[in-house]
Amino acid sequence: MKTNTHEVADRIYRISTCVPDAAPGGFTFNQFLIDADEPLLFHTGPRRMFPLVSEAVSRILPLERLRWIAFGHVESDECGAMNEFMAAAPLAQVAHGAIGCMVSLDDLCDRPPRKLADGEVIDLGGKRVRHIDTPHVPHNWEARVLFEESTGTLFCGDLFTHAGDGPAITDADIVGPALDGEALFHATALSPATGATIRRLAALEPQMLALMHGSSSRTRCGESLRRLADAYDRLTGEL
Ligand SMILES: [Fe+2]
Ligand SMILES: [Fe+2]
Repeated sequence: MKTNTHEVADRIYRISTCVPDAAPGGFTFNQFLIDADEPLLFHTGPRRMFPLVSEAVSRILPLERLRWIAFGHVESDECGAMNEFMAAAPLAQVAHGAIGCMVSLDDLCDRPPRKLADGEVIDLGGKRVRHIDTPHVPHNWEARVLFEESTGTLFCGDLFTHAGDGPAITDADIVGPALDGEALFHATALSPATGATIRRLAALEPQMLALMHGSSSRTRCGESLRRLADAYDRLTGEL
């Protein structure tokens, strides 16, 4: 497996590893590193991927400078290596919503996590990230996204998950591939709130959708979110 890095926005780096057997055409596991006065890593990758991801981070900045570790929700691909990163970076701390801390992270983290309220901002020094609770969207009670205000980047985790090893950024439609991914994995916890939660993110009118699995998008991001919300409303209506 090979790990690529790509600057997808000003001092925001996508770190991507494709696992060939995880889906037809391969399946990418992406982390995003925000290089600021207090650098933040969004997703750690699974624990066993730590050597690859940490080496990629250290090509961009010294690992021990890492200050914040954040992720969409508590699963191994999102946060399996959080304690390894905290061991390598003495100042690094997990930052997540209060529910995730109470249910899992207060216990799982080797150092106490920072609990964030919905809408709370961390000023990283040069970048500002807003925490947004998205319970059960796309899955897990503690689910959240992160919005970087200066670049308009929405770190949307497993939303728009699609298979394949495409480019870091695509101009192509990402909604169709996301619905193909949904048909393949059935990963979304469909509920009456799914569409409304995604529409709330569309109202941010992001300039970039940074995807954990697949290519990121800078094309009509709000519209893509609204189309995804509509598609999930239809799927929910069929339940
Ligand atoms: Fe997930
Ligand atoms: Fe994921």
